[in-house]
Amino acid sequence: MLNHRNRKENPYLQKNYAPVTDLIEESNLEVIGQIPQDLSGLFVRNGPNPMNNPKPAKHHWFSGQGMLHGVRLDSGNALWYRNRPVSANGNSPNTHVISHSGKIYAIVEAGAAPVEIDPELGSLSDAPFQGTLKRGFTAHSKLDAATGELHGICYDFARGYRLQHIVVGKDDRVRQTQIIDLRSRPMVHDCAITENYVLILDLSITFNWFRLARGYFPMAWNDKHQARIGLLNRKNAAAEIKWFDIDPCYIFHPVNAYENTVGNVVFDAMRYQRLFDKDRNGPFTESPPLLTRWQLDLAKGTAHQQQLDDKAAEFPRIHPGLEGQAHRFGYVLGLGPSALTPDFDSIIKYDFTKDRSEVHQFGADKMGAEPVFVPAEQDESEDQGYLLSYVFDRSSNKSSLEIFNAQDLRSGPVAEIKLPQRIPFGFHGSWVPAA
Ligand SMILES: [Fe+2]
Repeated sequence: MLNHRNRKENPYLQKNYAPVTDLIEESNLEVIGQIPQDLSGLFVRNGPNPMNNPKPAKHHWFSGQGMLHGVRLDSGNALWYRNRPVSANGNSPNTHVISHSGKIYAIVEAGAAPVEIDPELGSLSDAPFQGTLKRGFTAHSKLDAATGELHGICYDFARGYRLQHIVVGKDDRVRQTQIIDLRSRPMVHDCAITENYVLILDLSITFNWFRLARGYFPMAWNDKHQARIGLLNRKNAAAEIKWFDIDPCYIFHPVNAYENTVGNVVFDAMRYQRLFDKDRNGPFTESPPLLTRWQLDLAKGTAHQQQLDDKAAEFPRIHPGLEGQAHRFGYVLGLGPSALTPDFDSIIKYDFTKDRSEVHQFGADKMGAEPVFVPAEQDESEDQGYLLSYVFDRSSNKSSLEIFNAQDLRSGPVAEIKLPQRIPFGFHGSWVPAA
């Protein structure tokens, strides 16, 4: 039934999932409230903007040329908003935009190279990392704050290469590429790191030639594939990967992972029971993403799984300096009351130490996006900082950038920066502090 949608039925071409066609640059932005003085830099977010009139029945949310939407803030002022396509040599990564070593890169998984972006959102080149990357990268790298290195689990099945663990040094050069030989071809959207390991997510969605040949998104649910999490030793490339079988599931986004006091790995992530099975157009309709914790017991080789919340949510973020270390707080984007439609109505802040959560509802007609945590300039505690989210308002058909005090989410935004157009729901973004 879901296999043969027409244009009206493909939600990922409708309403605020539809592409924008105008490239706008606006410097007179109306601000309600007060932009924090210590937020000086660029908030930039990537997402698919399918302007090539895709066939609705076959269009998948993850397809479409990348479009960046950015707002430049400076000492309490909003200097500009602009949107620009990602484009270098016909390459248009659409999933994330990160900063590393003073550079900005638009990134995607499954083969396409990152595109370097200038601070005004123009595309520069697709020879990233000083030209040291030989093939594609990943949609999500993980920063080890202690070393300044980026870790990614990368793949490109259509062109015949399997998983790679790529490390980019703080000098912006690839310093390590390790081949991970698997019999299967899992979709690996993200990874996680701990002090000693990289977590490889070899889960229940695998590459499917049949769907590719018929023009569909080529990743599909696979009941025959044993879901498992691998621990790749970061400090000893010769060590065998330790695998932990888990119940069938898919994970796009880890919250974080870390090694606890007895050396076992704690892994928090948004878990789907099933997806990309009947629905070939996108996630969310087959099962809700739910916050789940796995504890990997290295001595026993077992994984213990526990659902931490029954509220559907996605796009988790933490303090950017804590990837791979114990986190107390996490921030996610809550799905609306009908969790099986792609409508996001709230930000949820989790306090994992006190086992409690706090919610901000965006309000009637408003739908948010990934809440990016930005530490305050003088931060004395993990949650001292801000959450930045693009918020779409159905009533005006425009969006705003809302800024929240992460320690007082319930009071609502401290600033709302009105933007000149709507920003389609997209994927991931970053805060790039001013140099
Ligand atoms: Fe993602």
